[in-house]
Amino acid sequence: MTTTLFTPLTVGAYELPNRLVMAPLTRMRAPDNIPTELMAHYYVQRASAGLIIAEATQITPLGRGYPNTPGIHNAAQVAAWKHITAEVHAAGGRIFLQLWHVGRISHPDYHNGKLPVAPSAIAPAGDAVTPTGMQPFVVPHALTTHEIASIVEDYRTAATYALMAGFDGVEIHSANGYLLDQFLRDGSNQRTDEYGGSLENRARLLLAVTQAVTQVWGADRVGVRLSPSGTFNDMQDSDPATLFSYVLGQLNGFKLAYVHLVDALEGDIRHGAKVVELAVLRKAYDGVLIICGGYDQQRAELTLTEGLADAVAFGQLYIANPDLVARFKGNAPLNTPDVNTFYGGSEVGYTDYPVWAG
Ligand SMILES: Cc1cc2nc3c(=O)[nH]c(=O)nc-3n(C[C@H](O)[C@H](O)[C@H](O)COP(=O)(O)O)c2cc1C
Repeated sequence: MTTTLFTPLTVGAYELPNRLVMAPLTRMRAPDNIPTELMAHYYVQRASAGLIIAEATQITPLGRGYPNTPGIHNAAQVAAWKHITAEVHAAGGRIFLQLWHVGRISHPDYHNGKLPVAPSAIAPAGDAVTPTGMQPFVVPHALTTHEIASIVEDYRTAATYALMAGFDGVEIHSANGYLLDQFLRDGSNQRTDEYGGSLENRARLLLAVTQAVTQVWGADRVGVRLSPSGTFNDMQDSDPATLFSYVLGQLNGFKLAYVHLVDALEGDIRHGAKVVELAVLRKAYDGVLIICGGYDQQRAELTLTEGLADAVAFGQLYIANPDLVARFKGNAPLNTPDVNTFYGGSEVGYTDYPVWAG
């Protein structure tokens, strides 16, 4: 029997009714970093997805680098998320939370003038998004080994809060140039201690975080997101194919719910990415693989048929099509996403995309 997007899939502890995943999408609509009722409405609209991965959510105030992104480090945030997860469950959906620490992709304006943190004191090229507009990135503070240990504990605490908030699981965000990705790559990690240099050392923090989070949740409710070909946020590595094959080999040992890979995007290729082929990554990983990045229905079905991935996550298509499952099933036309309303704002471009009349 051919596998399609509508073939159910076991992902860790869960049986997904279909293989469409809503990709994690930062929408910057959480004033004071607290989720809102409007966000509940937005996620409920998308509850027919096999799995929703809720937007990147900071595990600590120090892990924040954009305005109005939600957190999971205080009681008010837990209560607000609890309402959202209950609503999504009432609508028949499943929802994981993406655990986020931005590392150097931040600015002292978020931290009372203190520096953002990173593996090494190397500023990324580009500008930070601050509450008062774009400002150049600063040279971050290189974390001490003691501080690294406390970040692992921040992940553990945030994972516990996510459990209290009623999520079905968590995804560790180790993609797109944020803190854990900064440790993996030799462009941003030039440490000479046990967290830098060899593959083993550069992967040490991600694996320690995975260990801590799976201790809270059980491995069958935890996923990890990686972007092996990514250049976003000034990511560079001398040999990403070897690095990410090693990381996937190590993650095999955890028996996670899934690994979620971001494919090379147009922007990565424009920035001269060393593209790591999906076939190479598939070979390195034994468990459920979710793939994301520029997929439409046809390409998604082909990738499933070829056995290169087990499920496909959609980002922009989920922004614009809350009923993406029904639209794919019915070969319906798709709404076009409006980039002007991706980040911040109101219900416009958020919860007002029309559903297909059928
Ligand atoms: C508005 C927007 C916000 C995003 N926020 C996140 C995020 O919070 N976490 C993350 O891992 N990726 C984030 N991404 C990347 C998407 O999850 C996805 O990998 C990317 O959009 C490529 O998939 P697509 O071509 O289906 O949109 C974001 C992308 C967009 C367009």
